[in-house]
Amino acid sequence: MEKIVVEGGRRLEGSTRVSGAKNAVLPLMAAALLTDEPCRISNVPRLRDVETFLTLLERMGMEGAFHRDAGWLTLQVGEAVATEAPYELVKTMRASVLVLGPLVARWGVARVSLPGGCAIGERPIDQHLKGMKALGANIVLDQGYVVARADRLVGAPFIFDVVTVTGTMNVLMAATLARGTTVLENAAREPEVVNLAQALNTMGARIEGAGESTIVVEGVDSLRGVEQAVIADRIETGTLLAAGAITGGRVKVEGCVPEHVQAVTQKLRETGATVEEGKDWISLEGQGRLKPFVVETAPYPGFPTDMQAQLMALATLADGSSFITETIFENRMLHVAELRRMGAEITVKGNAAIVNGVERLSGAPLMAADLRASAALVLAGLAAEGRTEVSRVYHLDRGYEGLSEKLQALGAAIWREAE
Ligand code: EPZ
Repeated sequence: MEKIVVEGGRRLEGSTRVSGAKNAVLPLMAAALLTDEPCRISNVPRLRDVETFLTLLERMGMEGAFHRDAGWLTLQVGEAVATEAPYELVKTMRASVLVLGPLVARWGVARVSLPGGCAIGERPIDQHLKGMKALGANIVLDQGYVVARADRLVGAPFIFDVVTVTGTMNVLMAATLARGTTVLENAAREPEVVNLAQALNTMGARIEGAGESTIVVEGVDSLRGVEQAVIADRIETGTLLAAGAITGGRVKVEGCVPEHVQAVTQKLRETGATVEEGKDWISLEGQGRLKPFVVETAPYPGFPTDMQAQLMALATLADGSSFITETIFENRMLHVAELRRMGAEITVKGNAAIVNGVERLSGAPLMAADLRASAALVLAGLAAEGRTEVSRVYHLDRGYEGLSEKLQALGAAIWREAE
């Protein structure tokens, strides 16, 4: 086990390049199950979750090759595919549930472990299952596993009760091989859904409206292979810009998609930072003490829940009181207790937090609880006086490719040590 050590107080300066998006590469990997031709994914980030998913797909019988330095991954269905996603892998990465739609659509059967809850919330998959049922799948729960069967899925109208990113992706992938037309309403609009739909259409699917709340799919009989690049990670982009803001520095993030982070850059401007954008870059310059702000998380294009903890770290040092509401997950305030240990003044009532900014934070030994909370603790450490140690860095490695190296290259005194 490793920990991240930060000596705070350094102003970040320089430019860095964002990696491919964790939440885009995982569905693209699952989509390879929909064809027996080779699929090649580029701009793949070296993340624990990619390795975990690759292990699962290979154990299911797929042939995979991950050229980590070149950042590309090839996947191809082997002779036989075991249509089961076992608990010991699904429990480590809930996105494994993304194999459900492709397996039922192509093999007519899937046995996928229910993911169980996680630190930030119960995170049920009822919408995934309801969507599969709408397409004609027979679903039963058996000893903690979902067993889904269908001779052939049949297109149908389906309205999600809740906006769900992987739920939309699962049902969308299943609908590509269903017979007839599927109309998904109240679908997730995230860029990662659009990236997946682009790949599926290149494979021969007929999807219209990805990125909007209503997606229409004309089912086809089979899909081809694909070469698809993973879009830039909008959450890593926001996290790196937040590092510039919290240290009052000047950071330029290259290789990003500014339109995917509008809600975040707008909020960063409200903290007083100046933010400029180009075609594939965003630069932020701190302008003195951060200003307080009000933010409420929402499905895309609203403010992303995956940036809530990072913005809270900024709020702890703002000149006034900020008001942060988490509307997506029921327990995504795990970073609050750790920030308080650094001297932050935060009051939480339900899913809302009032953060009274303080003049300074002091470094402390901290423990990460989830991926984005650990990023928030690193950000706070960058600005705190003295040394901060964030243990359980494996949380960070799930979703950030070389974050400490990128921050170090921007001038931060940050390194990894054995715990
Ligand atoms: C995706 O998770 C992301 N993960 C999450 O990123 C992200 O926080 C989340 O979307 C919201 O943007 C991946 O894409 C791999 P949801 P997902 O289904 O799809 C409820 C990170 O840090 N819900 O959109 O699992 C659910 O409980 C991770 O990178 C149901 O009730 O999230 C939540 O309250 C964390 N029933 C809300 O919907 C369902 O069937 C949104 O969840 C599905 C979801």
